[in-house]
Amino acid sequence: MAHITAVFNMKGGVGKSTTAYNLAAGLHSFHKKKVLLIDIDPQGNAGTALGIPIWDLKQQLKDVLQRQANIEDIILTADSGVDVAPSNILLAEQEIPISAMPGRELLLRKALKPIEHKYDFIIIDSPPNIGVFSINALLASQDVLIPVDMGYLALLGLQGIDRAISLIHTELEHPLEILGVLATRYDGRNKMSKEVLAALQDHFGDKVFKAVIPEAVKLKEAPSYSQSIFEYDPRGVAAEAYKELTKEVVNVSK
Ligand SMILES: Nc1ncnc2c1ncn2[C@@H]1O[C@H](COP(=O)(O)OP(=O)(O)OP(=O)(O)O)[C@@H](O)[C@H]1O
Ligand SMILES: [Mg+2]
Repeated sequence: MAHITAVFNMKGGVGKSTTAYNLAAGLHSFHKKKVLLIDIDPQGNAGTALGIPIWDLKQQLKDVLQRQANIEDIILTADSGVDVAPSNILLAEQEIPISAMPGRELLLRKALKPIEHKYDFIIIDSPPNIGVFSINALLASQDVLIPVDMGYLALLGLQGIDRAISLIHTELEHPLEILGVLATRYDGRNKMSKEVLAALQDHFGDKVFKAVIPEAVKLKEAPSYSQSIFEYDPRGVAAEAYKELTKEVVNVSK
């Protein structure tokens, strides 16, 4: 049965999509895992980064959520070997109708049931807010990986993360666990980075991954070549950090 993890933080630009697609690629290439990457963000970044032609889809995740397609029918395999259930902006156009559907919070969980046994890992990239799509991502997952960037606003956002998880626990009665908290966009020359990392370790203790993702221009460039960081700059510091994360995820998922 697949281990299902949502990559979530309400804050934008913290490296959710970068983490989701590189983690998916790393689990596949270093650990020979069968991986499905689900893009439940209308920005479509995770799919695009792996070279999925998101503007040329006959069917996509919105059709699955609206029960007009089976998930098997929308999955495409990226060159890196990762399966992807893609989205694009049309998902945003359907947010209001999807929000009005009965059982709206559990649409993704139900859609995944028939294929869960085919994968070792299902990684879900979520949008930067708490709305129907991120709630679907969290309720379909057994745990959450939280990327946090190294800025002052990230510290303010920690309470929001706690609140979102407690909403999932108490109001929606789903025992979501924290797989881990990932420090992203770390710049060792910068005092703020060190302070935020220390504050994260204070707040989340051993839930903070040992892997720390550096601020690295190669991570920005890789999507324009439709490559994971492991293909684009295999010997660089960012690939090394994401490879370490991949190893930790395999270990904590056992
Ligand atoms: N460690 C990093 N170093 C340098 N650039 C990064 C790093 N992580 C992400 N980026 C870049 O920052 C931008 C935002 O990253 P990404 O899209 O992964 O964040 P996100 O949390 O998914 O954003 P959103 O909330 O909009 O979905 C992208 O251009 C990405 O390439
Ligand atoms: Mg994103």
